[in-house]
Amino acid sequence: MLEDTQLVWVRDAAEGYIQGRITEIGTKEFEVTPTDRKYPKRTCHFDDIHSSCDGPQDHDDNCELMLLNEATFLDNLKTRYYKDKIYTYVANILIAVNPYREIKELYAPDTIKKYNGRSLGELPPHVFAVADKAIRDMRVYKLSQSIIVSGESGAGKTESTKYLLKYLCYSHDSAGPIETKILDANPVLEAFGNAKTTRNNNSSRFGKFIEVHYDAKCQVVGGYISHYLLEKSRICTQSAEERNYHVFYMLLAGAPQQLRDKLNLGKPDDYRYLSGCTQYFANAKTEQLIPGSQKSKNHQQKGPLKDPIIDDYQHFHNLDKALGRLGLSDAEKLGIYSLVAAVLHLGNIAFEEIPDDVRGGCQVSESSEQSLTITSGLLGVDQTELRTALVSRVMQSKGGGFKGTVIMVPLKIYEASNARDALAKAIYSRLFDRIVGLINQSIPFQASNFYIGVLDIAGFEYFTVNSFEQFCINYCNEKLQKFFNDNILKNEQELYKREGLNVPEITFTDNQDIIELIEAKSNGIFTLLDEESKLPKPSYSHFTAEVHKSWSNHYRLGLPRSSRLKAHRTLRDEEGFLVRHFAGAVCYNTEQFIEKNNDALHASLEGLVQECENPLLQTLFPSGSSASIRGKLNFISVGSKFKTQLGELMEKLEQNGTNFIRCIKPNSKMIDRQFEGSLALAQLKCSGTISVLELMEHGYPSRVLFADLYSMYKSVLPPELVSLPARTFCEAMFQSLNLSAKDFKFGITKVFFRPGKFVEFDRIMRSDPENMLAIVAKVKKWLIRSRWVKSALGALCVIKLRNRIIYRNKCVLVAQRIARGFLARKQHRPRYQGIGKINKIRMNTLKTLEIASGLKMGRDEIVSGVNDIYRQIDDAIMKIKLNPRITQREMDSMYTVVMANMNKLTVDLNTKLKEQQQAEEQERLRKIQEALEAERAAKEAEELRQREEVENKRLKAEIETRRKAAEVQRLRQEEEDRRAALALQEQLEKEAKDDAKYRQQLEQERRDHELALRLANESNGQVEDSPPVIRKSENVRAQQQALGKQKYDLSKWKYSELRDAINTSCDIELLEACRQEFHRRLKVYHAWKAKNRKRTTMDENERAPRSVMEAAFKQPPLVQPIQEIVTAQHRYFRIPFMRANAPDNTKRGLWYAHFDGQWIARQMELHADKPPILLVAGTDDMQMCELSLEETGLTRKRGAEILEHEFNREWERNGGKAYKNLGAKPNGPAAAAMQKQQ
Ligand SMILES: Nc1ncnc2c1ncn2[C@@H]1O[C@H](COP(=O)(O)OP(=O)(O)OP(=O)(O)O)[C@@H](O)[C@H]1O
Ligand SMILES: [Mg+2]
Repeated sequence: MLEDTQLVWVRDAAEGYIQGRITEIGTKEFEVTPTDRKYPKRTCHFDDIHSSCDGPQDHDDNCELMLLNEATFLDNLKTRYYKDKIYTYVANILIAVNPYREIKELYAPDTIKKYNGRSLGELPPHVFAVADKAIRDMRVYKLSQSIIVSGESGAGKTESTKYLLKYLCYSHDSAGPIETKILDANPVLEAFGNAKTTRNNNSSRFGKFIEVHYDAKCQVVGGYISHYLLEKSRICTQSAEERNYHVFYMLLAGAPQQLRDKLNLGKPDDYRYLSGCTQYFANAKTEQLIPGSQKSKNHQQKGPLKDPIIDDYQHFHNLDKALGRLGLSDAEKLGIYSLVAAVLHLGNIAFEEIPDDVRGGCQVSESSEQSLTITSGLLGVDQTELRTALVSRVMQSKGGGFKGTVIMVPLKIYEASNARDALAKAIYSRLFDRIVGLINQSIPFQASNFYIGVLDIAGFEYFTVNSFEQFCINYCNEKLQKFFNDNILKNEQELYKREGLNVPEITFTDNQDIIELIEAKSNGIFTLLDEESKLPKPSYSHFTAEVHKSWSNHYRLGLPRSSRLKAHRTLRDEEGFLVRHFAGAVCYNTEQFIEKNNDALHASLEGLVQECENPLLQTLFPSGSSASIRGKLNFISVGSKFKTQLGELMEKLEQNGTNFIRCIKPNSKMIDRQFEGSLALAQLKCSGTISVLELMEHGYPSRVLFADLYSMYKSVLPPELVSLPARTFCEAMFQSLNLSAKDFKFGITKVFFRPGKFVEFDRIMRSDPENMLAIVAKVKKWLIRSRWVKSALGALCVIKLRNRIIYRNKCVLVAQRIARGFLARKQHRPRYQGIGKINKIRMNTLKTLEIASGLKMGRDEIVSGVNDIYRQIDDAIMKIKLNPRITQREMDSMYTVVMANMNKLTVDLNTKLKEQQQAEEQERLRKIQEALEAERAAKEAEELRQREEVENKRLKAEIETRRKAAEVQRLRQEEEDRRAALALQEQLEKEAKDDAKYRQQLEQERRDHELALRLANESNGQVEDSPPVIRKSENVRAQQQALGKQKYDLSKWKYSELRDAINTSCDIELLEACRQEFHRRLKVYHAWKAKNRKRTTMDENERAPRSVMEAAFKQPPLVQPIQEIVTAQHRYFRIPFMRANAPDNTKRGLWYAHFDGQWIARQMELHADKPPILLVAGTDDMQMCELSLEETGLTRKRGAEILEHEFNREWERNGGKAYKNLGAKPNGPAAAAMQKQQ
């Protein structure tokens, strides 16, 4: 069991992440015990484990999280979701979790007012805040804006779009007529373009880009709607539990009797085109209002479908009114309803074989004659002509006259049914185009300066059966994802580099290869499909085979049998292909691709509708636009049309400012208060928001050019500020606003803001004059204040200078005094030295008198002799004093005379003393003898000490020689390495690339698997595992082989077992193997911890000084040579270190290490401000240096190695107990290696 009990997040298949604690370090993974006992223990790769904070998270901006990882991100979303806070930011990107219920006051008019003019981040996150930012960015940057709303089906894109539009139209005042029309467009579009699917009751089956146009004063002046890819197949068939477009049901449920009679309407189960689901959406009240005769059998049995925002009866009336407000007359509305009804009746026309027809033709079945009559009436075509056009096709032979001969080719039953369905789809889809056109006509914009466009397009789609529609939608999503990657991740990082911001790079999966696969001009899937359509006999299997042939070795394209879902594996190779999209692998069934790619009607049907009497239908099919006129080779396919449309959209997006909203679906049951973590996590990953989070750990989402900021303010700047350079002005502005230095950074041309600092950023970017004047006033104040401070500083400097001058004057006087003294002393020195010399004799006489006092005889003679000498001295001194010019020689001769007399007196005295001293002499000699004895003993002790010193020096020299030898050896090695370096470098880079690719593939595999699992859950299908991705790295393979060859397989050993073996085993080889494995795991663990550290504790938890860790980091990983076991020895090191965040005087410390062989045995840290830290292997491994001696580079560090006794002295001085087994043979029994302190 590990002592390190830090709380972590660990991956869970259902919850996304759950909390637990690491309890075991394995070879490639950690064992985690969840804190909640209901979950079992699990072993996970360390990439799936992240650090966790103790309490639950609740932050408006995910970039504010203490730990920026996907687990805490998910936790934050979840916690907030259950508190009804469905919005959060990742920098400037809004994340919206679908609440599936109404949250009180969240979108009320008062809330709109509250967000008006408020910066992003000032109020809780909201779609309104994004809309407001778009308006303000448009005004400030004079640039149109886009808001890209994305997410999977049911995530809430359309609802978010509605709220955005509401804000854009209502934010300034109450909505005017144009704004009302823009808002009215929605119910109309939803009636015709939305349907119930298994994933969303109100699923938009088309994409739209709604532009709200503004004039120079930012007043709404019009709008424009572009729409994309209406799902046509739904008009004729729907999957079980799915409905056709809402409008059909609305008409059947809500049309007044008079209209019903006109259109011959019945109940849903009367119509084949509504067979997927025949129930209405209704609430308790409207259920009563719909007569029983209008309800299907199924509806009567099961009751209505329920959804808070859908009601077929009510919505018909809303639609009718909205169409009226958009300017349609009753006749025009009737025209639209008639075509909708006509589609329903057309669907009921069935065919049967003509009994005796040899050409295999068919006829309209008798039972559907009535439907034929009603349809022809509603379409305004001749019944017979409709009949003929449905069961036969016109062909023009090539030869035979100017125009060729017209031949009527009878159709088989399935061909006639296809023709009927094609007609229904063409009528409905063109009607939809027309309705969008009508809306656009009613909201024209002439005086538009800019616009804000909101994009709501179907998210990534995957079903058990995926066809052309899904292919187009997923292609579109790839393009949008690429746009997001380029816009947010790639360009952002390039900008940071250009501006010198020093932000660490992050990697993300580039999906350009998928886009190439689909849209490449020469062999992209779209091109191959169009080419197939131009062949005389196009076939889907040939097309599919061509796709596989052209992209046979492409990672992104696979055969259906490589799918994870069992249902796909049954498809034959030429029936489909699998594309590994950024969000997961999707298997496409190609059977319908060719038909769906060509929406042209056959000539007789087209001719029929072009010449009909229904005015609306005529406008839908203008003559001259026929595909048959253009010919097969020039036809414009659905795919290429969509590609062009998408190209135009991307161009718009690229020119505009961009804002992103990522919608998240919290559960697949479409219910409130349920958060499926893994589902949300998959969406977060796919949307790229996790990569953005990673980037924003050190990134700067908001920025502005100095020049732009300056020119924005230029008009309101007073003359004294106008002359400032742009950058200086910006610096002055930032200083004056008291912004914290860590919240922004100056680049080369721009100033950047950290995430969550948008309020500060926006404060300076708000271009209303009042705010600008207030800021300018602050800048002015700051400038005046800083100039005042500068002048005060100047005055202080002058005072300081004056004081310095005074001080120097004083110093000069002192110097003069000293010089004068020196000269005088030089001149008179011989005389006073002469006096001094003679005076010294007087001192000697004192001694003579003192000695004489000890004489027993002749003392008086000596005394009078001394008095004589006194006199002579006084005379001589007097002479010298009175004669300044006296020479040295004269003084010397006077001295010699006095001295000679003195000597004579001394000789006398000595003779007298001699006898007296004879006895004393003996005693003195004895004492000298004793002193000599003591001196000899001291000398011997000194010699001993010196010998020891020499020995230590020798040992140190040995260490130095060893270090030098190691150095020489290393240099030699380096020389050899250098030669191999280029090749090695290349190999390493390749391996790194392979590794990154491998990781991406693993991630892709995981997404594929998750997607397949979700599908399987929805459809009761089965998922099969593909073989694991093989990593091609040579190095890894070599390592694996090496592992295989090793004597001991320790991969299954537990961390604690390894430690026990180290402490108890006597098998030297096993011991060494255990130690290597033990430290390798520790390294992996510490590397994980470093990667997952909290943002505030960067410099803590270091187990060795930074210099050591860095040396190890720079080195390539080493495989320990096996001979280490024999040659290993104890070595001791000492190096100083600095603590980055300690107060100045306590920064420095000493780090001691004792290595037993390659691994650390004892470690000691000495700090100035805290008690020493002593650690011993076997007990304190988690806190000790996990690197091998070789990796630390200590043996090559000059002066780092110390002697054993030096280490032990410090160790014991600081309370460490003696290391007893040091004498044992190096690296001997385990006890010596990982000795526990006793
Ligand atoms: N902000 C919200 N508040 C309350 N309910 C919401 C909100 N957003 C979405 N919903 C609910 O979720 C349902 C699905 O949302 P919506 O139709 O916007 O999804 P979508 O992303 O547009 O899906 P699709 O791609 O299928 O069109 C809505 O019908 C509504 O019931
Ligand atoms: Mg939608």
